[in-house]
Amino acid sequence: MDNIDARWGALEAKCRECSKCPLCETRTNCVFGTGNRNADLMFVGEAPGEQEDLSGTPFVGRAGQLLDRFLYAVDIKREDVYIANILKCRPPKNRDPLPAEEDACIDFLREQVRLVRPKVIVCLGRIAAMRLIKPDYKITQEHGTWVEKGDFAMTAVFHPAALLRDPRRKEDMLNDMKAIKKRLDENK
Ligand code: URA
Repeated sequence: MDNIDARWGALEAKCRECSKCPLCETRTNCVFGTGNRNADLMFVGEAPGEQEDLSGTPFVGRAGQLLDRFLYAVDIKREDVYIANILKCRPPKNRDPLPAEEDACIDFLREQVRLVRPKVIVCLGRIAAMRLIKPDYKITQEHGTWVEKGDFAMTAVFHPAALLRDPRRKEDMLNDMKAIKKRLDENK
């Protein structure tokens, strides 16, 4: 086993045993992250929902199925990307993550980013953008804009759950996803 595999194994094991915040008491599964560990593109959502908590895999519920449709529309294969969340455990009734929960969990995501070394990180929704891009991020005004951060570029798009609530945003989402695909293709 090489060093990278050992680091992935240790990180995942630590995450599965984590009890740094009270969400560990109500989780069915820790939702560590999934996909290509050498991906150029990484998506970061907010926190697992019910289906993710039950299955242990991010973005498998209705919002995840909508994300899959956008990936298909711009010819990105889900198995080529890495998908994780800010929180690895489901907040009760899908409430917003608390700052203390994000603080307790964020080092798992930091290490995932160091291991994957993506060229592009896409925040799925306001909560991830506020944590990873800037605290006052306004998703309605700023979605689709780009920030260069060291070795990678970052952007944010509407959360697929927000698109389920307000389908009028789907056109914006498609345009943002097309721009993400273009940027990836240019970076090859
Ligand atoms: N919403 C998220 O932010 N993440 C998931 O994994 C599922 C729904």
